[in-house]
Amino acid sequence: MRKFVTIVGARPQFIKAAPLRAALATRVRDVLVHTGQHYDASMSDVFFKELALPAPDYHLGIGGGLHGAQTGAMLEAIERVLLAEQPDTVIVYGDTNSTLAGALAAAKLHIPVAHVEAGLRSFNRTMPEEINRIVADHLSSLLFAPSDLSRQQLAREGITRGVHVVGDIMYDAVLRNRPRAAAVSRYPDAAGCTPGEFYLCTIHRADNTDRIENLSALMDAINRLDRPIVFPVHPRTRKQLAAFGLTPGPNVRVLDPVGYLDMLQLLAASRGVLTDSGGIQKEAYYLGVPCITLRTETEWLETVTAGWNCLVGTDPEAILSAVRNLDARRAPPAPVYGSGNTADRIAAILTETAADCS
Ligand code: UD1
Ligand code: UDP
Repeated sequence: MRKFVTIVGARPQFIKAAPLRAALATRVRDVLVHTGQHYDASMSDVFFKELALPAPDYHLGIGGGLHGAQTGAMLEAIERVLLAEQPDTVIVYGDTNSTLAGALAAAKLHIPVAHVEAGLRSFNRTMPEEINRIVADHLSSLLFAPSDLSRQQLAREGITRGVHVVGDIMYDAVLRNRPRAAAVSRYPDAAGCTPGEFYLCTIHRADNTDRIENLSALMDAINRLDRPIVFPVHPRTRKQLAAFGLTPGPNVRVLDPVGYLDMLQLLAASRGVLTDSGGIQKEAYYLGVPCITLRTETEWLETVTAGWNCLVGTDPEAILSAVRNLDARRAPPAPVYGSGNTADRIAAILTETAADCS
């Protein structure tokens, strides 16, 4: 039986890995490695439980720290795992430091890397994620691109071999979990909100959280919205709000990070979402919820072109104006990232192709 190693570490990676693990099921041995990048129960355990992921075979316990220290520690620990396990292929997801470390450790050992969410570019190299994506793509033998745009971007960078346009695995996750979310989640009632009469907000990008001028501008805009705001706060953001002495206003329902099912339910019930998350921009699109992205660029350009996502950055007036325009009529979301069978398509390619890293 062929053996894979899957590397995860951050919240969105647990969500992306679950459908592919299920699709691979008994066909291969898939060793699960959690780097420990996210470690709070609300950032990690809850997703394993809700998505029926097994306990990791290896938990590396590497959370926090500066980029070099964090990535370096992961590289060293993943290399040890790969030497012990000798997998046929290493699977990495997205664009976090765990992705970078997993791809680099495998490539240096001449183990083929399969990158899920390949070819995404924001063209902003001050984002740590942009560096991680570029490097991971250039180290990969199998590149699973969500759209033709991402395939074209890889081609522009000279990568044409091993590229497969397969759609977005997060769409699989949404389709699979949406009915369960509606059945079990107590939100938005639990936050004291009425469906369609509140905004959802998430913020966690380094550029938005770590610069006081950006975080205070965002809080200023949020505090001035015309309806309640449900704000599940990422631990990084909570620390920075405290460090900068910024307090959300009375209209803001501050929550700890919520689980995936609660998040889907909150999103679906919201009037609109304000976010700097990559995953939430897509989920909003799948659920037909207007998205206001608190960044000036996005790697998920199709959601903007389709009219469901608008890029506003951190300027409070631009944010408030976008919120006033939320009602503007728009065509229902067209399928731009596949049809929700991405995990099966990736599993078929992974099990039928012998990847090599030449
Ligand atoms: C990381 C990813 C980002 C992804 C995000 C998903 C990188 C460079 N960034 O950002 O691409 O969008 O995850 O959420 O890989 N912390 C806790 N508890 C936790 C996790 C984090 O307290 O469970 C705090 C720690 O102080 C840590 C800080 O948050 O230093 C930042 O965490 P880190 O994983 O480095 O980056 P994220 O901002 O979460
Ligand atoms: N998410 C969640 N609870 C939260 C915030 C986000 O379950 O409190 C989910 C969200 O629905 C999406 C994923 O986490 O599936 C996105 O993660 P995040 O925004 O942290 O990272 P990004 O996608 O920007 O890398």
